[in-house]
Amino acid sequence: MSIIIKNGRVITADEDYVADIFIEGETVSLIGKNLQVKADKTIDAAGKLVMPGGIDPHVHLDMPFMGTYSSDNYETGTGAALFGGTTMVIDFVLQTQGKSLYHALEAWQGRSNGNALCDYSFHMAVTDFNENTKSEISKMVNDEGITSFKTFMAYKGALMIDDRQMVGLMQEVMKQGGMVTVHATNGDVIDFLIAKHRAEGKLAPLYHYLSQPEITESEASGRFADMAHYTGVPAYIVHMTCEGAINQVRRAAQRNQKVFAETCTQYLLLDASLYEQNFEGAKWVMSPPLREKKDQAALWGAINQGTVQIVATDHCPFMWEQKQMGKDDFSKIPNGHPGIETRMELLFSEGVNKGKISLNKYVEVTSTNAAKVFGMFPKKGCIAVGSDADIIIFDPNEEHILSAKTHHMHVDYSAYEGWKVKGKTKTVLMRGQIAIENNALKIQRGYGKFVKRNKVNGII
Ligand code: URP
Ligand code: ZN
Ligand code: ZN
Repeated sequence: MSIIIKNGRVITADEDYVADIFIEGETVSLIGKNLQVKADKTIDAAGKLVMPGGIDPHVHLDMPFMGTYSSDNYETGTGAALFGGTTMVIDFVLQTQGKSLYHALEAWQGRSNGNALCDYSFHMAVTDFNENTKSEISKMVNDEGITSFKTFMAYKGALMIDDRQMVGLMQEVMKQGGMVTVHATNGDVIDFLIAKHRAEGKLAPLYHYLSQPEITESEASGRFADMAHYTGVPAYIVHMTCEGAINQVRRAAQRNQKVFAETCTQYLLLDASLYEQNFEGAKWVMSPPLREKKDQAALWGAINQGTVQIVATDHCPFMWEQKQMGKDDFSKIPNGHPGIETRMELLFSEGVNKGKISLNKYVEVTSTNAAKVFGMFPKKGCIAVGSDADIIIFDPNEEHILSAKTHHMHVDYSAYEGWKVKGKTKTVLMRGQIAIENNALKIQRGYGKFVKRNKVNGII
C-alpha cells in the first residue's frame, strides 16, 4: 500500500514548509515538492497542517486503582487517542507490592495484547524495590525494551516508595541505561492532611485539593532532583502543576543537571476554582490537583523556556458512577480524569491559536520530545524519510464543541463540556494505514503494536 499526501503545510519541531509526502508500507519514503510518483491513494492536504502523530507518554488504560479500574480499556482508549490525533501512548505497568515486575508486566500484556488501535509502550512502575526487583531491571531494559521506571513519592500504603528504595532503584537503573520518572508529591504530608480533614468532617472534593498544597509538590520535586543528581540517573518528573515545583527543576539546572519535566493539558487550562462546586468537583479530582492561575502562567512560561519539554494527559478516566465511590469522603474518589482525545486539539486551540506557543513548539511538546526522551526517535515523533508514517492532517480553522455526547473515550462526562475549540484532526495515518478518515475509524483492534524502546541517557 502506498499513499501520497499532497500540498500540505508540513510542521515538525524545527521546520515549516509545503511539500508532498510519499509513504510506502509503514514508513515515509520520499518528501519533496510536486513529487511525480504513483500511489495507491492520494490525499489532498492543501490548506491543512501535516504533523507528526501525537505521542502521549502518560496514560492509564484499564488500570486497577483505588478499588476500581480506569474506564478506558486498550481498545477504547487508543481509539479515542487516534480520533484526537495521538498515534502512540505510553501506559504504566504497576508492580503489586510483594510481587515481581514480571508478574505485573504479564497482567498488563494480558489486557493490551491484540487490543490496541494505536502503538503503545510501557513504563514500569516500581512500588517495591528489593533484591528481586533489582535483578529484573536489566531484563526490562534489555529484553522487554522498557527503559523508564516510574516511582511514586505519594499514595502512601499502596504505591509509594521511600527514599532508601528510590536511591537504590536510581543506582540500578543508571547502571542499566534507563531513566527514573516520578510522581513527585510528599506522601507523608498528604497523608497527614487527608487524615486531619477527615477527622474534622471536611469531606467534600475541595479537601482533596486542600490536602495537596503546592509545598507538597515542590518539596518532593526538589528531593527527587537531589537524589537523581547524587546518583546521576536520567530523571523525569511527570504531571508537574505548579510554580514552586518548576522552580526546583530550574534550581537543578543551575548546577548543570538535566531534569526532564512534563505537564498536562488540564494544568495549563483549568484551575482549582472547579473544586468549589460541591460533588461536581469530583470530575477533576486528580493528583496532583488543579492549581492556581499563577501556576498556569508559570507552566506556559516553562514550556517556552524549555524547562518543561512534554505536555501529556495523565488520562485516567472514571465513569461518574465510579466517582460516586467518594460521595461521602473525598479520599475515596478515584483519582484521575479523561484527556487522551482532547490534548492535541485543546493545546492547538488554546496554545497556538491564542499565541502562547509556536507551531514548532506545539509539535515538540506533543510528539517529538516524548520520542526523544523515551528512546523512540527518529522512528517516532517526526516526519522524515525512514520514520514511521504516523501522521496527522489537521484543519487549523475548523471549529467544534467538546462534549461527552460526541467524544470517543469510554467515560460519561467531559472535563471540557461545551468548550469551543478551533482546530480539528481530520485524517490520521498510523504506520502508513489510514486510521481515521471522515470521522470514522478505519483500522481494526490489534493494529496497534507494542514498541520496544531504546536505552536512554538523558540527552536529547
Ligand atoms: O489522579 C491521577 N493522576 N491518577 C492517575 C495516577 C497518577 O497519579 O498518575
Ligand atoms: Zn501521578
Ligand atoms: Zn498518571
